[in-house]
Amino acid sequence: MTYQVINYILWCFVLAVVSVTMFNPKVSSASKQSKLEGLEMNEIDQCWRLNPEWRKHRSQLAKCSVGYVGKMTNNIGNDLIHYKVIDPSDDPINPKNGTLRYGASRIQGKVWITFQRDMHIRLEKPLLISSFTTIDGRGVNVHIVDNACLMIFKATNIIIHGLRIHHCRPQAPGMVMGPNGEVIPLGQVDGDAIRLVTASKIWIDHNTLYDCQDGLLDVTRGSTNVTISNNWFREQNKVMLLGHDDGYMRDKDMMVTVVYNYFGPNCHQRMPRIRHGYAHVANNLYMGWVQYAIGGSMEPSLKSESNLFIAPTSGRKENGLVGIHSVGDVFENGASFMETQGGQVPKPNYNPEQSFKVVDAKCVRSLTISSGVLRCSKTSIC
Ligand SMILES: *[C@@H]1O[C@H](CO)[C@@H](O)[C@H](O)[C@H]1NC(C)=O
Ligand SMILES: *[C@@H]1O[C@H](CO)[C@@H](O)[C@H](O)[C@H]1NC(C)=O
Repeated sequence: MTYQVINYILWCFVLAVVSVTMFNPKVSSASKQSKLEGLEMNEIDQCWRLNPEWRKHRSQLAKCSVGYVGKMTNNIGNDLIHYKVIDPSDDPINPKNGTLRYGASRIQGKVWITFQRDMHIRLEKPLLISSFTTIDGRGVNVHIVDNACLMIFKATNIIIHGLRIHHCRPQAPGMVMGPNGEVIPLGQVDGDAIRLVTASKIWIDHNTLYDCQDGLLDVTRGSTNVTISNNWFREQNKVMLLGHDDGYMRDKDMMVTVVYNYFGPNCHQRMPRIRHGYAHVANNLYMGWVQYAIGGSMEPSLKSESNLFIAPTSGRKENGLVGIHSVGDVFENGASFMETQGGQVPKPNYNPEQSFKVVDAKCVRSLTISSGVLRCSKTSIC
């Protein structure tokens, strides 16, 4: 190893240990493990994962979000309903108490959904999630699989955490329980893992998304204030779309933060593709691509900051298109960026609730090492 590499590793290490100590001043001999884990924890995770009692304090998570979503404090409080999924079955029109759809669509107001045990849920129709809903898969293995998947339609203040969503398929039009608990007609839906339609203040954290018929995550039709963090996206042609279509001007106001995600292996393109709007894409790891990693059209504005791009051994090595500014990105294996030259780099202009420290791209490997669904053992930290 060169001196430079050693230097970077030391620097990442120092950064993490300092943060761990700040989080818990009592950290000492007792928590050697959490110190070790702390090495791999980014700013969002450090906020709750170091607490070995996280199961008793699940709502602590709501204050850990960063980026355009801000803090999810509207999702917690004394009026919060705790709901446990005990039944993996699904009825899109008349959901049974105990199923995911009953908790996510039928119950109104603040609800925090957990799962009794590991389960595979095959949804009969897209799941329309109500405002102020948290779906928290921590501690169990929950798969949303093999048919319809998640949709956030005209709703706000939603957290989706710790789900495996895969093999999603297009859905024919039909009746389904809407986010207000009333049955509504829903048109044809593409096979995306998570689709946002006119949604705002949405936090998508630590999910594993792969192998769907259309894309993995679409942010469309005037959706904004979205943070996409700590997810693992893999095995997919079209990964993430920000902005509905070229003619949809309301997406000019779209603001999305994409941070600490792991893209790959076998992701082809759109990580993300942006139309109109603004995205801050920071500290993500790109493990190859086929066509490109980041792209855009229709005068979007995107700041790609301190990401690690590892080019595929074969195929295109360049990526990036008009409207994209690269700052502090690191390129390996011959990767390169065709970025917009000159002009002002558009700043995210975060408020204090939204802001976070973007770290050196050399630390991205360790900051994204636990992306996707976390393995949380019964006895220790997550
Ligand atoms: C749903 O089920 C739970 C647990 O079995 C029960 O406590 C609750 O009262 C039920 N709610 C309704 C509306 O039936
Ligand atoms: C987005 O967030 C900002 C800052 O918190 C807020 O002022 C704005 O109203 C939000 N927009 C929507 C559509 O919720």
